[in-house]
Amino acid sequence: MSSIRPLAAGNWKMNGSKAALAEIAAIAAAAAAGETGGAQTLICPPATLIAAAVEVAAGRIAIGGQDCHAKASGAHTGDISAEQLRDAGATFVIVGHSERRADHGESDETVRLKAEAGLRAGLTAIVCVGETQAQREAGQTLAVVGGQISGSLPHGATTENLVVAYEPVWAIGTGLTPTAEDVAEVHAFIRHELVDLLPNVGAGVRILYGGSVKPGNAHELMGVANVNGALVGGASLTAKDFLGIASVYK
Ligand code: PGA
Repeated sequence: MSSIRPLAAGNWKMNGSKAALAEIAAIAAAAAAGETGGAQTLICPPATLIAAAVEVAAGRIAIGGQDCHAKASGAHTGDISAEQLRDAGATFVIVGHSERRADHGESDETVRLKAEAGLRAGLTAIVCVGETQAQREAGQTLAVVGGQISGSLPHGATTENLVVAYEPVWAIGTGLTPTAEDVAEVHAFIRHELVDLLPNVGAGVRILYGGSVKPGNAHELMGVANVNGALVGGASLTAKDFLGIASVYK
């Protein structure tokens, strides 16, 4: 897996106004100075900030959306298409985050159609999967993740346009993380599923870990086999914390 370029990705969720662009400027400057090493660096701010973030990033880091509609345009009040994200300068889109699956009732099928919209628009889709605490306690983690993977993967995936993020729901925003052994088990399983479902591509698709990644645990989590980067929520809101994570690739 050593040829896979890692991805350090930040998901700002519904946080941030124009003042927060200074954090993106600082992350972009650090990336240009080599502080994120060989990792690709990405911030997904709220949609209101994407165009301005692209300006501030000046090509030094990538900017992405947090969701998109499956269709390219039409009567869908409040939604944003993958083509519109691309037009604003985004190059990535997160789809199927557990908060979207839970708050908006998104099914695997919906997530797959959104991922395919991302690919259609020339974006890289980050497809999120992960079990709830109840599912983990019931021993269903691999079954749940396997079902989400097979149901949500887009047709037409390549190593460039698809990233998978494993985010156990119970670890998101809680300060809890799985053990390195648990992360290794799930990531090995996801790799196996990817190779099975996408024979020519699966070995090279990046698999991110997400859920309470912090500067203090990033080194251990990013060192786990088949972990090809991080999807970071809370700790991506400041350049200092985000760079404390991305700098493990220095
Ligand atoms: P967290 O969020 O880092 O705040 O746990 C991760 C995510 O939801 O992507």
